[in-house]
Amino acid sequence: MTALKGLILSGGKGTRLRPITHTSAKQLVPVANKPVLFYGIEAMAAAGIEQVGIIIAPETGDEIRAAAGDGSRFGVEITYIVQDEPAGLAHAVLTAEPFLGRDPFVMYLGDNLLQGGIKELVAQFESANPEALILLTPVPDPEHYGVAELDGDRVVALAEKPPEPKTNLALVGVYLFSPVIHDAARAIEPSARGELEITDAIQHLVDKGARVEPHIVEGWWKDTGRLDDMLEANRLILDNLQTRVEGELIESTVEGRVVIEKGAVLERSAVRGPAIIGAGTRLIDCYVGPYSAIAEDCVVEAAEIEHSILLAGSKVRHLEGRMESSLLGRNVTISRDEGRQPRAYRFMVGDNSEIGIL
Ligand code: TTP
Repeated sequence: MTALKGLILSGGKGTRLRPITHTSAKQLVPVANKPVLFYGIEAMAAAGIEQVGIIIAPETGDEIRAAAGDGSRFGVEITYIVQDEPAGLAHAVLTAEPFLGRDPFVMYLGDNLLQGGIKELVAQFESANPEALILLTPVPDPEHYGVAELDGDRVVALAEKPPEPKTNLALVGVYLFSPVIHDAARAIEPSARGELEITDAIQHLVDKGARVEPHIVEGWWKDTGRLDDMLEANRLILDNLQTRVEGELIESTVEGRVVIEKGAVLERSAVRGPAIIGAGTRLIDCYVGPYSAIAEDCVVEAAEIEHSILLAGSKVRHLEGRMESSLLGRNVTISRDEGRQPRAYRFMVGDNSEIGIL
């Protein structure tokens, strides 16, 4: 157990994941059939954090409340905090100040995934007791991230998406802060993109002589804010799947690491893992290939699917080419009439869409 609080940022605009985010929060898009957000909550619970605040946007807040509830099923107590506008990560911290009070806290971006969780970081923060501990990872394209410069075990400068980065060390979406961060967030001005940037607030701490320490991440880290990253996160999580076949197999085969949830039915179909098939889903005369996550109550018939995520209630029927590297929202229908069609398809489709290939 720790006195640290948790703060998960689950507001924002999600423009990079449109059209999914027109109707739904990106933090609820499932990775291996579990909302991204839940991985963050579970990481907090595993690190002994009991009080978790979740920042929500007015548009998608209700959906997030309905999904995560009061937190009891994760073993934490969740407090929801509405941020009226997505005015930046440091703005989110200020919005959460009444919840956080003078307690130290872990801030976790609700669309991020961190292999190995946060236990070790919490231990480092509690023993070294710096004003801030930031997570860093080497990346090939630092100009797209917040970037840190180090001097030994101290962070000496930060820059948000610098055109000419001084290092390749990108900020990962998990931070540990002492309460001085609130004063820093109050002291800064909005950036050129109009947001109160957390990098500016941390830079302010550095300028004031506060101790800001780095922690280089060893496992993988994924920001799932774009389609390709979401598919990659799905791939990384599915790679660690434990086989469990509880659904019904009729003249069907499964191979490799596969989860078939109770209530799923496979008829004359083959699933090659890593893959997960949700409860109530029916696969008929089809092939589901590696790195696919098919949610609950879907129907896939006479089709091949690989390296894709299907949200609940989607239907895919009679595709001749293989569907790959695709993300379908909820209740999407894709079906084909007779006729000629290309050999491969790539889709990124929002909820309640319907695609007919005629
Ligand atoms: P981002 O992905 O950086 O921002 P965004 O959600 O607005 O997405 P996009 O760039 O595609 O428009 O945000 C990281 C996480 O922090 C994400 O889970 C949303 C959340 N967030 C807030 O809760 N409040 C905010 O003011 C901002 C900017 C983000």
